[in-house]
Amino acid sequence: MAKLISPLINSEFAKDVVQGLTTNPKYLRSKYFYDYKGDQLFQQIMNLPEYYLTDSELEILENNKEKLLKIMDSGEDFNLIDLGAGDAFKTRILLKHYVNQSIKFTYVPVDISQNAIQRVTEELQHLIPDLKIEGISKEYLPALDSIPNGARKIILFLGASIGNFSPQETILFLKRINQTMHKEDLLTIGFDLKKDPDIILNAYNDKSGVTKEFNLNLLNRINTELGANFNLNSFEHSPRYDIEKGEARSALISKKNQMVEIPTLKISVSLKKGEPIHTEISRKFSLQDIKGLAEVSGYEIVENLMDSKNYFTDSIWKKAD
Ligand code: AVJ
Repeated sequence: MAKLISPLINSEFAKDVVQGLTTNPKYLRSKYFYDYKGDQLFQQIMNLPEYYLTDSELEILENNKEKLLKIMDSGEDFNLIDLGAGDAFKTRILLKHYVNQSIKFTYVPVDISQNAIQRVTEELQHLIPDLKIEGISKEYLPALDSIPNGARKIILFLGASIGNFSPQETILFLKRINQTMHKEDLLTIGFDLKKDPDIILNAYNDKSGVTKEFNLNLLNRINTELGANFNLNSFEHSPRYDIEKGEARSALISKKNQMVEIPTLKISVSLKKGEPIHTEISRKFSLQDIKGLAEVSGYEIVENLMDSKNYFTDSIWKKAD
């Protein structure tokens, strides 16, 4: 066990855990949800009846695959870059359609996990043998920097992942992407739209408790990777939706006064009864918010593709002139 733990003490994960648990209010960064178990739980979340986001975006892609093809394909080779591709379940709709039409392009899934890239490459190779795939396992911005100039870049950032960034991080991220783009390139972003607050809250508070398990898995990960002794039964999952800010926020609430030890990191964490550890912000947007974001970060909106309920949009952007 000691051998397993020691290389992780100096990891970014360990540093972020120390930072987040020794400050007030306490927090853990949501990007750490996605270990092997977390990936599996997120797959389950996407199948929950309450989690409308996936169905809405699938509907958008299915109904607009031909339109998207016309927007993306100018007859010349292009790179279809999928930031946070995961298992490419949604992008597959486009990939199949494009390959069927013999479109010239390379699919570039980007995922921080080398495992995820390997799995998605093998699976897609099998499902769509004629698809050209060149996956990259890096963080998003380094991945974009590493793609050689030449072919047009069609960047996808689907699934409402942009909602996990703070307002400042969002603009910084969009500006950085803008710097890697040329005028003929495109960026398509999935935004979850502001809507009936109950519908939003339920998406993060499912009856079957999968989202609770997804949040608790973060403590589990700290236990297994960093040797902490979090007792998962001593925490409650508490999602909130702030209508004014358009923010769904999740936290794990300590059910009692307790101490948690993380000996490998040389810290003890004291928690009061009712004290939260913030785990995630999922921001929701209006079409006006989206227009504002595009403008401040140097883009023009080409088109907003919407589902029939107007729950979600895949917003297609190009660099502003
Ligand atoms: C993958 C970031 C889009 O915020 O809706 C789902 C993650 N968290 N249920 C989201 C998530 C709880 C999800 N994103």
